[in-house]
Amino acid sequence: MTGVAVDFGLSLGVGRADLERLYSAAMFHDIGKARIPLAILDKPGRLDPEERAVVETHPVSGYDFLKDHHGISPEIRDAVRHHHEYLDGSGYPDALAGGSINDIVRVLTISDIFAALIEYRHYKPTMPRTQAYEILCGMTGKLEKALVSSFKAVALTR
Ligand SMILES: [Fe+2]
Repeated sequence: MTGVAVDFGLSLGVGRADLERLYSAAMFHDIGKARIPLAILDKPGRLDPEERAVVETHPVSGYDFLKDHHGISPEIRDAVRHHHEYLDGSGYPDALAGGSINDIVRVLTISDIFAALIEYRHYKPTMPRTQAYEILCGMTGKLEKALVSSFKAVALTR
């Protein structure tokens, strides 16, 4: 996912400082999953509501974990906490909406969803890039439309 996020950042022409933030946020975004049992993380198929609730603790776990790490800026911690938020307020953990979700987070979220779909996991098959991009396009109201359009080149040209 880090490669996808950096490619997306480069294609958007973000400056060096933001590109570095994006890289670090992408590196650390799921670090809170270290506290989740593998039986849940690697479970094939759908999670039940309790398992889902456990998985959804990972952004806050990651945010708390990075609190003690000097060199991790507030923007990066913020991105780790909010990479599962959606513009329509339906995400987690804080149900942020619209303007409360900053640009780095928006870029990170799109990259994360796409990477999770196309990357191989032993509990799920990979998905062709065209199909994964169609899923992003179908997430109306949740992702920034203009950013999803900009992402097309990254999604389909590699
Ligand atoms: Fe995550």
